[in-house]
Amino acid sequence: MERRAAIIGCGGISSAHANAYKALGIPIVACVDIKREAAESLASKFDIPAVYTDHREMLEKERPDLVSICTWAQSHADITIDCAEAGVKGIMCEKPMCRSLGEADAMIYACRRNDVKLAVGHVRRFEPSYLEAKRLIAEGAIGEPLYLAFHTSGGLLNNGTHLIDAAKFLIGDPKAEWVIGQVERKTDRYERGARIEDLCAGAICFKGGVRCVFEVDTPNRPGIEELEVYGTEGVLRVGWGRGVRLMSVKRAGWDERRPKGESPFVAQIRELVGWVDGEVEEHRSSGERGREVMEIMMAIYESVRSKGLVRMPLRVKVNPLEVMIDEGFLEVLKPGRYDIRLR
Ligand SMILES: NC(=O)c1ccc[n+]([C@@H]2O[C@H](COP(=O)([O-])OP(=O)(O)OC[C@H]3O[C@@H](n4cnc5c(N)ncnc54)[C@H](O)[C@@H]3O)[C@@H](O)[C@H]2O)c1
Repeated sequence: MERRAAIIGCGGISSAHANAYKALGIPIVACVDIKREAAESLASKFDIPAVYTDHREMLEKERPDLVSICTWAQSHADITIDCAEAGVKGIMCEKPMCRSLGEADAMIYACRRNDVKLAVGHVRRFEPSYLEAKRLIAEGAIGEPLYLAFHTSGGLLNNGTHLIDAAKFLIGDPKAEWVIGQVERKTDRYERGARIEDLCAGAICFKGGVRCVFEVDTPNRPGIEELEVYGTEGVLRVGWGRGVRLMSVKRAGWDERRPKGESPFVAQIRELVGWVDGEVEEHRSSGERGREVMEIMMAIYESVRSKGLVRMPLRVKVNPLEVMIDEGFLEVLKPGRYDIRLR
């Protein structure tokens, strides 16, 4: 069936979405940005015929079947709900899914109510190195997985969301049972307009007992290549575009693999189209899966707020980091707002 796409938010990542629709032969009928120059620039690069500065006007006039939401996280929920209510069939919403568990629920309900397929841009689920790592773990290359570890930067919701999702993906998407975490926010730090912590660290225990320990923005952390998985019979290291390194009790030294494959940005939209068309049972990064990651991240913040271990399911629907900042629990000691992504 012929599908028509639109892109909302025409900054850095929007080109990856535009390239994906192009690669799949799906016409992009419009693009939207609150900054007209940004929308015009994407339109001229990809020959997009219509430019808007208001997504609601675009939805009403263009009636697209597929929408990529490439705006900042704080608008993902409202725009998803508007798309769902305007008759869009499939939504590819960039990560992080949103800013709180309440927003994630509202997005999922709006999409269910309107029979809309919602996918979240946790694109490592389509990346060749991660696919190879998942395959190796499933076939027992490291025995039974016991522990995962990652270190990243740029905020828990920003890059942490990718790696928590990837950790779950690698070990077959178990639900989280409990989490414990800590944050520091002594500077007035923002990421694409949203308040974030200076650093964060924590542990997630998944059902079945596998644990994931992580650090985000902690100083001087050498050695970790995105994600490490420790099993009863080996260790595996995987990084976006960096391949897989495997060490097992069965042979000495590191076994390195550099798998190649389709662009993950194309693959995630191909799967969305298949889901909309009824050819795929469920997108591997559905809104429900995205919610599981939001729940973990919000539970990490709630662990800081409640000073202890947090068991799932999380009942708190607001963003506990925002609450702690608003209530003065995280006092800024070096005043002066700055954004690590926006200039
Ligand atoms: N999947 C990935 O690997 C990946 C990589 C980069 C960014 N992202 C995510 O994509 C999103 C966008 O990131 P970016 O780097 O492209 O940011 P960006 O700042 O370069 O672009 C975002 C654009 O959205 C526009 N915008 C903001 N609110 C809007 C609204 N309500 N309506 C229309 N336009 C609006 C801004 O004017 C801006 O041009 C973020 O959520 C980010 O985390 C994902």
